[in-house]
Amino acid sequence: MRGVPENQKTIPVWDGFVRLFHWGLVVCIAVAAVTGFLLGPYWIPVHVVSATLAVGLILLRIVWGFSGSTYARFSSFIMGPSRVFGYFRDMLAGRERRYIGHNPLGGVMVLALLAVVIVLALSGVTVLGASAKAGPLAFALPYKESGWLREIHKALATGLLVLIALHIGGVVFESRRHRENLARSMMTGTKERRDGDILSVPRAGYVPQAVRSSAMWLGGGGVLVAGLSFLPVPRPPVAEYNPLVAEECSACHMLYHPSLLPAKDWERIIATLEDHYGEDASLDTESTAKIRDWLMAHAAETADTRAANVFQLNPQEGIYSLTDTAFWQGRHRGLPEAIFKSKAVRARSNCVACHEDAESGWFNPFQIEIP
Ligand code: HEC
Ligand code: HEC
Repeated sequence: MRGVPENQKTIPVWDGFVRLFHWGLVVCIAVAAVTGFLLGPYWIPVHVVSATLAVGLILLRIVWGFSGSTYARFSSFIMGPSRVFGYFRDMLAGRERRYIGHNPLGGVMVLALLAVVIVLALSGVTVLGASAKAGPLAFALPYKESGWLREIHKALATGLLVLIALHIGGVVFESRRHRENLARSMMTGTKERRDGDILSVPRAGYVPQAVRSSAMWLGGGGVLVAGLSFLPVPRPPVAEYNPLVAEECSACHMLYHPSLLPAKDWERIIATLEDHYGEDASLDTESTAKIRDWLMAHAAETADTRAANVFQLNPQEGIYSLTDTAFWQGRHRGLPEAIFKSKAVRARSNCVACHEDAESGWFNPFQIEIP
């Protein structure tokens, strides 16, 4: 195609990495938004992976902002307040000039989007740490902080959606204003060169330096995250079962971890073993006392998992079992009845069929597998 006159008017603007970054980020944020806003904890692993990829892409983009080709560089589109406001005034007056790269307002938007995604991801790490006891902050955040941390995370996510809407609005506005398709330019990488355009001083992307810096930031970040994730979580559920409990309380159903219920509930369950959910589960006095003491010593009050914080029975109000609680019903509402009747699950109370770590008391969202 070289030498064709029309082609000379088309110039490369967005290099391959910028385009890959842009559309890669679109996919990651879309997946994170759908799994976060619309789907439940079963999708948390997908949510976390897509958010992590988004952060990884942004780190690479930041590196490329210092070493990439002309219009990838922050120096080509990050401008001082006077130029931003000047551009805004010109735009209102309908006399702004056409920038081949991002215009000054677009540059502000790029920075705002990158910053909000990073802060959103950090806040997601706090939620993951406090409520799921996973990730680099699990060691530092107690479950009781998860409520407001989640609200902040949601507010930031909503803020990001607003920014994205403004960003798309800006792209549509500018595309109309200059009669071009900016979204298509972000796919082809090229734009039509016109008289009066504002161009940046050409600069070549310096790949070796970008690769070195990227390896340093991604590697360093990865090591830090992995290292922090291995720190022990305070107040974990007791790991070893008392052998007597393990034997007597698994005869008819899975072993329910003592951290699933507060001490007062265990006390009542043990006091009424002769009429235990319609069965006679009574034992000799000595065994009963031992089981009772062990369950009460490791009841929900001693652990800080989500499962240790959400279940409480209340026979006066008809809540006799874990599956009667509002929390349980809310979380499992989306599951079709047929799953609970299937051979592999058999009953709602057979938590271990879907929660691989049920008998350890953790109920980690990363360990859910519907058979
Ligand atoms: C048929 C499979 C199945 C059974 C049986 C089951 N669960 Fe679940 N559980 C799930 C799924 C799936 C989710 C995630 C729901 C979602 O994504 O909306 C979940 C979510 C949870 C959560 C929330 C996890 C989090 O961190 O948000 C807890 C706690 C939980 N279940 C406890 C229990 C307990 C206790 C039992 C037994 C009394 C039980 N489940 C029985 C499938 C099951
Ligand atoms: C003779 C059989 C039998 C024995 C032994 C037995 N259970 Fe049960 N248990 C049941 C039945 C039946 C249920 C009701 C299951 C259901 O709701 O699907 C039940 C339910 C429970 C529940 C409520 C589960 C839920 O979904 O919330 C707990 C907690 C429990 N048992 C604890 C114990 C403990 C602790 C022991 C040991 C002291 C024990 N069980 C021994 C038969 C037994």
